[in-house]
Amino acid sequence: MATVLITGTNKGVGLQLTRLYAEAGNKVIACCRNPDSADELKALEGDIEIKQVAVGDDASVAALGSDLSGTPVDILVNNAGAVGPAMDQQTLTTLDSAGWLEAFNVNTIGPVRVMQALLENLRAADNAKIMTVTSQYGAMGFDMPAVYAYSTSKAAVNKFMKLAALELGKEGISVGLVHPGWVQTDMGGPTADLTPTESASGIIDVIANMTGSGFWKWNGEEHVW
Ligand SMILES: NC(=O)c1ccc[n+]([C@@H]2O[C@H](COP(=O)([O-])OP(=O)(O)OC[C@H]3O[C@@H](n4cnc5c(N)ncnc54)[C@H](OP(=O)(O)O)[C@@H]3O)[C@@H](O)[C@H]2O)c1
Repeated sequence: MATVLITGTNKGVGLQLTRLYAEAGNKVIACCRNPDSADELKALEGDIEIKQVAVGDDASVAALGSDLSGTPVDILVNNAGAVGPAMDQQTLTTLDSAGWLEAFNVNTIGPVRVMQALLENLRAADNAKIMTVTSQYGAMGFDMPAVYAYSTSKAAVNKFMKLAALELGKEGISVGLVHPGWVQTDMGGPTADLTPTESASGIIDVIANMTGSGFWKWNGEEHVW
């Protein structure tokens, strides 16, 4: 069974990833900002270790790395993400620059921070996998003029991970990106297409089948870059 580290596990897709991986018998290191209020996470059964981690904070992520020193991590799922400024403050003509920077901090640099902090843990595992939950909004081939801060932050993490895949692939570490679909979470809203469980289940299959790098949809189809 694998050791799986997941960020953003208190709700939404991350909560269901945690539940499903744990139910399958894996050890899950479940990271979230506020464990004290993560009641649904704390109620899950299985081999789940909850860690307080803010992916947007250097010191917090560095502390996670120190805490896990010497622990092999087979699968890292960078799931935590935020939509950024209010919809009407990330358009062609409006700019909440602080909010835009924070979207980059969480959605782009967050996964990079966590990956860098855990690199030795991933290297210590056999054929480790790094999956980042991105969005179709980050694809150059998806032309939806909305949520400009969110879209560009996801495009940037796509590029970073595509480059990282070239280097880490030589060490046998797979690096991928996945669009989780439009999901019924706080981010996706109640009218979205997929339940968090459907999305998480698909993502787990994508990770299981991942060899090398790529950009996929939750259902296993390749996603355009
Ligand atoms: N839902 C969709 O339709 C959809 C579509 C495309 C992509 N995605 C992506 O899927 C992933 C999961 O999203 P979701 O739909 O499950 O959304 P969600 O229910 O809103 O959950 C987002 C998770 O990210 C965490 N997070 C947000 N801002 C953070 C920050 N500054 N620092 C640390 N953690 C932070 C949240 O923690 P807190 O509760 O502490 O804020 C929560 O655990 C995200 O990367 C998102 O961009 C979602």
